[in-house]
Amino acid sequence: MFLGKPTARAEVLIMLALLLMACERSETPAPSSYSPPGPVPKEAQRPGDPQKGYDALVNKAYLTCGVPYAAYKKNAPPPAVSERLPGRRGRNAELPYNRTFYVAPDGVELVVDNCLSCHAGTINGQRVVGLGNESLDFTGDLSFPVESVGALVENEQEAAAWKRWADIMRTIAPYMQTDTVGVNPAINLTFALIAHRDPETLAWSEQPLLEPPPVKPAPVSVPPWWRLAKKNALYYSTEGRGDQARTMMLGAILCADDLATLKAIDAYAPDIRAYFASIKPPAYPFPVDKALAERGQAVFETTCSVCHGTYGDAWTYPNQVVGLAEIGTDPVLATVSTNGQTDRFQRWFNQSFFGELARAAPAPGYIAPPLDGVWATAPFLHNGSVPTVATLLDSSQRPRYWTRSFDSSDYDPAALGWNYTALPHGKDGETDAGKRKLIYDTSLPGYSNQGHIFGDGLTHDERKAVLEYLKTL
Ligand code: HEC
Ligand code: HEC
Repeated sequence: MFLGKPTARAEVLIMLALLLMACERSETPAPSSYSPPGPVPKEAQRPGDPQKGYDALVNKAYLTCGVPYAAYKKNAPPPAVSERLPGRRGRNAELPYNRTFYVAPDGVELVVDNCLSCHAGTINGQRVVGLGNESLDFTGDLSFPVESVGALVENEQEAAAWKRWADIMRTIAPYMQTDTVGVNPAINLTFALIAHRDPETLAWSEQPLLEPPPVKPAPVSVPPWWRLAKKNALYYSTEGRGDQARTMMLGAILCADDLATLKAIDAYAPDIRAYFASIKPPAYPFPVDKALAERGQAVFETTCSVCHGTYGDAWTYPNQVVGLAEIGTDPVLATVSTNGQTDRFQRWFNQSFFGELARAAPAPGYIAPPLDGVWATAPFLHNGSVPTVATLLDSSQRPRYWTRSFDSSDYDPAALGWNYTALPHGKDGETDAGKRKLIYDTSLPGYSNQGHIFGDGLTHDERKAVLEYLKTL
């Protein structure tokens, strides 16, 4: 050894010191890590059974706090036919698609929210499991309806169950308020929950343990679940790396106060993921001009496939994250998760039960999504800022201020999207609060409709042809 004998003891001491430092470091939170733009590598997923997954999705409770069943029954009419789903068992069969029956460990019967509140949209009045619900209204203060349930509880046990849920909802409600009907605050809501839970024990703390996120959520459009058949990472900025089943049940921390609760949910999560990957997007319900679509396919394959892949039996999908400078769409969502502002939440995730199989590792960009069933997923882009495919393909036609129809049969087959009206003014020009919240104002931070100008270079006829082709995916 070149240090020679006299220093051997010092060497051992140095090694010991290094070892101690390494141990110490493993106890401090791991630094967060971002992913580079470019292709997302495939990672192994735990296998699951799609049929069991659907059954779990519509019958099992992943949220373990909510409204006492007796109180719920006092106000709620039986669900309309359009609100019921096949395959629901027991009390679930009498509940609407977005509610699940749950018996808490202490025996209290509850009605809890489920994933379908945000992930079952409607087309022509039909509920479509897996289609993002782009009609939800998060503009109000969600703690009001929670408080009103308090008046309906009947005994001490129910009151305690209600209080547990109401305390959490009251704490997170401020982080869920969006500017516009239709956009979703789920990411900010999750950050707020993380701020109040211990990463190891999951214990709820009334006082935040981490600095909470900014109050205003970045607006997000809910992506369809069927994309999981192709995507190697979850979410727009691909922060959901590693095991997807574990990551996608993160919402359970709304109510889960301990690891045992999470582990019980995690046991069936791979089945639910397998079900998502098996969902076929709804077929386009109107006539398609086959010759025009064929011409469109050729244009698509030269202009769009490099990012969005090819379709049909021998499909390809490159899983490409496009950097912010190249894609040019609203940067807020991807920027806040890769400029240090949300590192504490990523660290929490990586340190927790979720980090054992999955990693939060966002990229400074957005993934080019698979376009299967894209006709049904309006409005477009990660923030839902562009109302139709026609306006997505021609940026000069995108409305700066607009309001859209929330009637799911009011669809424009020429433009591919829900019918909308362009407005001469944004939110500032509207005094009626009811109308204000329906205005999509692309001048607000996070709501911009800029970027993705890949259709601008096409001729009018080429754009028409590409649009026709997209109907067939
Ligand atoms: C409050 C609304 C809401 C609820 C409830 C909700 N989600 Fe989501 N979900 C979203 C939003 C918004 C996104 C998009 C977030 C992003 O990509 O940044 C999303 C994304 C996803 C994705 C990723 C899709 C993709 O293409 O990357 C999966 C999978 C998913 N959710 C599963 C679930 C499951 C399972 C549940 C129930 C345990 C659930 N979600 C509950 C709003 C919700
Ligand atoms: C350089 C890569 C790239 C090219 C080329 C490209 N796209 Fe995209 N596309 C993206 C990315 C990234 C997004 C997501 C952007 C976002 O949400 O902010 C996207 C989003 C979309 C969406 C919206 C999907 C949704 O549900 O919101 C459609 C539709 C679309 N692209 C169609 C096309 C068509 C048609 C072409 C060819 C004319 C094309 N794209 C060319 C990268 C690309």
